[in-house]
Parts: sequence; structure tokens; C-alpha cells
Amino acid sequence: MKRFFRLCLYAAPYWFQSLLGVVLLAAVGLLEALRLLILGPILRTVLDPSVKSESIPLFPKLPAPYQFDLMKIVPSHFHNAWNVVAFALIGSTVLKGISDYFGTYMVNYAGYGMITDLRNHLYETIMKSSASFFSKHATGTILSTLINDVERVQTAVSAVLGEFLQQAFTFLFTIAAVIALGGRLSWVLLLFVPVVITSARKIGRSVRVRTRTGQDRVAEIQNILHETITGNRIVKAFSTELWEILRFKKAARRLFRANLHSVRIQSISSPLMDVIGSIAIALLLLVGRNEIKAGRMDMGTFVVFIIALFKLYDPVRKFAFFYNSFQQAMGASVSIFNFLDVEDDVREKSFAHTLKAFHDKIAFENVSFAYSTDEGECEILHQINLEVRRGEMLALVGPSGAGKSTLVNLIPRFYDVSSGRIVIDGHDVRSLTLDSLRKQIAQVTQETILFNDTVHNNIAYGQPDKPRDEVEQAARHALAHDFILRMPQGYDTIIGEKGFRLSGGEKQRIAIARAILKNAPILILDEATSALDTESESLVQIALSNLMQGRTVVVIAHRLSTVRRATRTVVLEDGRITAIGSHDELLKTSPTYQRLYELQFVGGVEGFLPEAVTPMEAAT
Ligand SMILES: Nc1ncnc2c1ncn2[C@@H]1O[C@H](COP(=O)(O)OP(=O)(O)O)[C@@H](O)[C@H]1O
Ligand SMILES: [Mg+2]
Repeated sequence: MKRFFRLCLYAAPYWFQSLLGVVLLAAVGLLEALRLLILGPILRTVLDPSVKSESIPLFPKLPAPYQFDLMKIVPSHFHNAWNVVAFALIGSTVLKGISDYFGTYMVNYAGYGMITDLRNHLYETIMKSSASFFSKHATGTILSTLINDVERVQTAVSAVLGEFLQQAFTFLFTIAAVIALGGRLSWVLLLFVPVVITSARKIGRSVRVRTRTGQDRVAEIQNILHETITGNRIVKAFSTELWEILRFKKAARRLFRANLHSVRIQSISSPLMDVIGSIAIALLLLVGRNEIKAGRMDMGTFVVFIIALFKLYDPVRKFAFFYNSFQQAMGASVSIFNFLDVEDDVREKSFAHTLKAFHDKIAFENVSFAYSTDEGECEILHQINLEVRRGEMLALVGPSGAGKSTLVNLIPRFYDVSSGRIVIDGHDVRSLTLDSLRKQIAQVTQETILFNDTVHNNIAYGQPDKPRDEVEQAARHALAHDFILRMPQGYDTIIGEKGFRLSGGEKQRIAIARAILKNAPILILDEATSALDTESESLVQIALSNLMQGRTVVVIAHRLSTVRRATRTVVLEDGRITAIGSHDELLKTSPTYQRLYELQFVGGVEGFLPEAVTPMEAAT
């Protein structure tokens, strides 16, 4: 119920359309019932030429003021039974059609409008989530919620809601008509109310549970799709197509079962209503016969009464479907609200400080850090104390898994420290606006992230207003200009999803051009060249030196040349700093550094061994 009201909040801005829609659809229900009632006069007056009537009541059984004489609402020069009935019939149908059209439109307008807002809000929340959100939730699951779950709610609040309102009003007005026509007879109906309600509720509850399972299955399929389509090169390289197809088929089979199960539950409701309905009518026929025999009711009224009853039965049958649909929407909204409610660890303080241009130093003060995962927390960094002064180039070395990437990711606040603090120019990073903090930092990582857009837009990412010549200048410094010009449309070439059409070194140089254009004072390099072959690496190295010029650099190094150029080098082992110093000092003082030096830096051709082979793994 709480979820329902929460959804309603999204409808609040559309109150006018909703209200208008409801009123119009109420009119539809009223006119529908009226059309039904006109059948009475047709049977009683129009089709019986012996009757010369001065009044055409719709409810002959009620006291005179409530009989609703058609003669009185139709202009007086029409007074002839056929004219009157025809006028009422056509008039009410046309009016009903108009109300139906606009009412449905208005309700859908409100429904689609609120869903659009809900989807936007969800996307906004997800986009603003911290890195840990994305490492906790699989891409496929996020996509499935944004697409499928929102879609379910959308169906419920647009098309189904419109239809529901129309049927509900038709139902109400028809009930009124039935009672007015049937008098005593109509009490029989009440006997069926509890039966209908309990069976609908029972069915609805299991539908909700089933829907949730079904949606999880869809998310599962979406996850497999996402992994295997984006990772199709690995799939090919390992010839695991068959295995992946099998995995997909298994997931599809599970979805198939979940779907069938909910169909089983849903489709029981309609036959159930059928049976209940026919029992009711059979009973009524029995009672009705006695009423007519006793002269308490004429045949015409009774026929209209029975027809009205049949009409009632249609909305009742559909209610099971509406109820199912709303239950599905409620089930789907669970995961939507779960995402909306994620308590994000990295949040901007209200009244956060804006960081002006970086001018002094970055300081780690007693920093410890643990990733919070579903399995609990495991501390990765312990008591880090470190200072990076402006203009310095600090190299970070250590075995893989030591926590180097984790350490540098704390600076732009991709994660927040568990204890201690990181201070930039005297401000705790948590007291700064995320935007002003991240503006000061450019990053080049091992895995370049490019968008399926033009080369120009990829370099000018986040700065769409940069003029072409500045972008080209950045590309020149990144040694990317020449190969870009060789591409079919130069800077306007679309580079394909994740830059599939570029080589590793080319991708990296575009990422460097992007960092050069960003022109941030602090630069973080996380094994920017480790994935490259020696030849493209040397180009990237030159590009990187251009990028490093005049900046404060923290570089995770795996090449001797980088370490040699660094002002200081930090050795990180198992989340602890074990030594700091220059290359020569560390060779004397740090055994780990010596090992790294022998294995990585001197291992054959300088800079030939990829970072993946580090003492940790070499030893095991
Ligand atoms: N998002 C994450 N969630 C949980 N654990 C992580 C996450 N990222 C890295 N780790 C763990 O933290 C440790 C350090 O990782 P990382 O900083 O990437 O090491 P390095 O860059 O030195 O190779 C590893 O043991 C890794 O398994
Ligand atoms: Mg790393």
C-alpha cells in the first residue's frame, strides 16, 4: 500500500488530467448504463404498437419522481415514442464516444507522464550513484529494472488504468440500474460479492509473487546478454559459444516456467468468474419467474434486468485481469523503489565547499578503507599516511592486489575512506562539492572508456563547447592527430561501441587527448600502458609525458622508466606502505622493490613484461 501511495506521488503533477479523465470516464459509465435502460422503452413502447404512451419511464418500478421520463428530456416537438428513443439512443452513444475518447486520452496522458518522470528520476538516481553501486549491481539487472519493471508499471497506469476506470464506472452505474430495475431480485447479487472478492484477492497475491520471480528471470537473461554481447571476443577466443548458448537456453527455460506459472494463476480467474456468474443467473431466472407470475414485474423490465446483469458480469470478469495487472505493477515497483532508495555512501554535503584551483598538496591522513560487499567488509588499505605535493610525480608500485588502484580511486571520491581522511589544500574531500573536486583531477586508466560517438566528441567529452582547434591541439599532444586524420571522416568518424574500431594504443591516445583537454592540475595514471604492446606503448609513453607536463601526478607504475622519472616512489604491499624513496634508495632498503625490479623492470626487454605477471602471481 505504501508503494501504491508512492506511485501516486508521481501522478500528483498530473492531477488535472487525472481528474478530468476520471470525470469523463465516469460519464462513459453513466451513458453506458443509460443506453442499457433505453432497451426497456424499446421493448415496452416502441416495439408494441398497441401502446400509446405519454411518458416513457426508464425505471417503471420506482416512485414517479424517480422514474426518469425520457419524454421530459427530449425537445417537445419530437414526442413520438420512436423519435424519443432514437434520439436518446444516438445522443447517448455519441456523447459516450466523445467522453470515452477524451477520458482515455487524459488518463493515459497522466499515466505516461508519471512514468516518464519516474523513469527519469530512476535514471538520475542511478547515474548519480557511487562506484560501489555499480560494482554491486549487474548491468543487466539495472537495465532490466529501467526497461522491464518500468514498462510493467507503465502498462498498469496507462492503458489498464483507463480501461479499469471505464469498467468500474460502468459497473457502478449498471449496479444502480440493476437495483432500480430489479428491486427485491437484486439482493441475490449480494450473495456473490464475498465469493468474488476472496477469490480475486487470493489470485492477486500469488500473481504478485510470481511476477517478481518472472522479472528476476528477465534480469538474468539480460545479464547474460549483456556479458556475452559486450564480451563476444572472449567468447569467440575461448570457443565457448555453445556453452553460452546453453547457459542462455537454461535461463530462458526458467523464464518460460515462471511465465507459465503466472499464466496458470491468471487464467484460472476468468473461468472461475464464469461459473460463479452462471450460477447467479440460473438462480435469478427461478426467482424472476415467480415475480412475473405474481405480477410484480413485467417481462420487458425483467429482460432488461437480465441483460444488465450480463453486462455487469463483463467488468467483474475483467477486474480479475486489472487486479493482476496492478499486482504485477506493484511487484515491479519493488525493484524500482529499491534502486531509488539505495543509500549512497558517497554523497555531497549540503553546503559543500567549492575547491578552487589546486595549489598545495594532497594528504592521506591515517586512511583505512574497506569495500562493503554482500559478503561483508574486508579492509584493503590500512593506516595510509602519504603526502603528494604540488608539481610532484609520485609513483606507486606493488604486487597486484596490493590496493594501488583502490588508493588512487579514493582521491576523486569514487569511494569514501572507512576511517582517516584525505585532505586537498586543507579541505577534507568529503566537504567539497563532487563537481569541483573531480574537475581538478584527470585520469587515464588501463581500460579506456570510449563512447560510441565521433572522435571529436570523445575527446571533448564533458566539454562540448571546446572549439575544434583546441581539440586538435590536444590530439596532437597525445600523438593522436595523425591517425585520426587517416580515419575515413577524420575527427567526425564514429569510433564504435567502446572504440572497437581502434587499436589499444590508439584508444589510449584518445583517452590521453581527453585528459589533456580537460587540463586538470592533478593527474592519476593507473597502469595506462600495461595493456599495450611495446611499439604502441612507446607512442603512448610520449603522449603521457606531454600530458604530465606541469601537473601533479600520481602514477601506478610498472615500468622502470616511469619510476626513474618519479620524484618519489611508494611501495604498497597488502594495503600498507612499506617504503618510500627514490629508485636507488629503494633498491637498497626495500626487498619487495628489489623483487619487483628484478621480475618486472629487468625481466628481459625493459618494459616488456605485462603488469599481470607480478611477484605475487609468479610465486604461486
Ligand atoms: N569493487 C570492489 N569490491 C570489492 N573488492 C574489491 C573491489 N575492487 C577491488 N577489490 C579488492 O581489493 C583488493 C585491491 O585491489 P586493487 O586496488 O585493484 O589492487 P591493485 O590495483 O593494487 O592491483 C583486491 O584484493 C581486490 O580483490
Ligand atoms: Mg590496479
